[in-house]
Amino acid sequence: MRTHIKNLNQKPTETVTIMGWVQVRRDQGKMIFLDLRDASGMVQGVILPNHTEALMIGNILRTEWCVEVEGIVNKRPERNVKVGVLNGDIELEITNIKVLNESETPYFDLTTDGHEVNEEVRLRYKYLDQRRDRVQRILKNRSKIQQHIRNYFISDDFVEVETPLMSAPTPEGSRSYVVPSRIWKGNFYSLPQSPQQYKQLLMVGGMERYFQFAKCMRDEDTRGDRQPEFTQLDIEMSFTTEEEIMNTNEKLLIELVTKFYPEKKIQQIPFLKMTYKDAMEKYGNDRPDIRENKEDKNLLAFLWVTDFPAFEKTGEDNLDGTGEWTFTHNPFTRVRDEYMNDYMDKKNIGDLISTQYDITLNGYEIGGGGLRSYKSEMLKKTFEIMGYAEEKIEKMFGHMIEAMKFGAPPHGGIAWGFDRFMMLMENEPNIREVMAFPKTGEGKDLMMNAPGEISDKQKRELGLK
Ligand code: AMO
Repeated sequence: MRTHIKNLNQKPTETVTIMGWVQVRRDQGKMIFLDLRDASGMVQGVILPNHTEALMIGNILRTEWCVEVEGIVNKRPERNVKVGVLNGDIELEITNIKVLNESETPYFDLTTDGHEVNEEVRLRYKYLDQRRDRVQRILKNRSKIQQHIRNYFISDDFVEVETPLMSAPTPEGSRSYVVPSRIWKGNFYSLPQSPQQYKQLLMVGGMERYFQFAKCMRDEDTRGDRQPEFTQLDIEMSFTTEEEIMNTNEKLLIELVTKFYPEKKIQQIPFLKMTYKDAMEKYGNDRPDIRENKEDKNLLAFLWVTDFPAFEKTGEDNLDGTGEWTFTHNPFTRVRDEYMNDYMDKKNIGDLISTQYDITLNGYEIGGGGLRSYKSEMLKKTFEIMGYAEEKIEKMFGHMIEAMKFGAPPHGGIAWGFDRFMMLMENEPNIREVMAFPKTGEGKDLMMNAPGEISDKQKRELGLK
């Protein structure tokens, strides 16, 4: 029976078997010391001269070999106890070693936090990078936090629903990745920039409260806080208000910080709210860093930015450059009630204020959402304002406009950039460090060699040249 290393100190004097890796091997001539590691922790093992067979194997062991080790759990003498360290009070007297698999010498040190190692090499050998303490800790925290979030929503009558990855385009202001169809040659699925349309359709479907850890794909220039593929915590509610959505999220954010990062301090509760206009006038940007002390790495200044303009003058990146105006966030956002008449009359477009809100943290946008246009004429108006021809509206958004004709409930929601949130909680310099298998700044997966070429046969099948 295998014992996990973290449980060894509950088994003094017992003979146990552990499985894991050799982290460090120290040859002291007559004795060999091994730091042995599994996913649960570390322990120091010692091979004494009288265990000759174990000593023979101990002589050939190298860093990162995978081993099964039998030994006796001994209390350390008082003077050798390491206080506050897992297994600092015990030592494993190794009686037997079985090599499960040898290892080549890793190309970098796994005993440090790894920030000093060239990142491309770490990404090429991500599975080795993952063996280090820091990466293990981050992935475990990420999992625990996701579990907490799931419990939070499910106990409040939310339902986690998976939505398709192979779909039609949802504009979130970026380019979509596409997947060629074999059966429908010349046609393509789009990978979702977010589940925005699906979550709204779930509201039409009567679900009322939805959440999902959703994979989102956006073909945009990568940055430290952006990846081509990332995770959103996506939320949508029917019969709701901006206040309810904000409170639900704020309460959860406070819970997560208090439970998982007690060393961190939230600057202000309830979180400060600021209009887009005030943010721009006071700070010149819409995600200001309002920390009172920017030296303090444990200070968290959350801020809600509200009242975004609904439309802006179009630039190059309008969906197709037809109109004078384009939506500022996504085309589904509802304008505030007091602007609804002007909006429906297509008047004073530049002055229309939407229900869009962003949640920012220390100068990063970690989430955004709004209430939605839930009547078909209301939704259609956005595309008319953008100057789309009837035919094009029908082709691109006809399904959404039609869905709103079947008693669609008023609804709204939000999505967090979950990786960004984790990056800030873990004090990491970029979101790659909180993802299990990130891509490089140029969008490459160096470990899997993606993107890669496909065979001529595949191309023929897909009707690609
Ligand atoms: P939005 O486009 O603002 O809204 O995205 C929500 C949050 O996702 C994060 N984010 C990213 N994180 C990593 N890499 C990226 N490339 C990336 N792009 C965005 C940001 C952002 O705040 N459907 C709407 C949400 C809604 O209205 O409910 C949406 O996707 O933290």
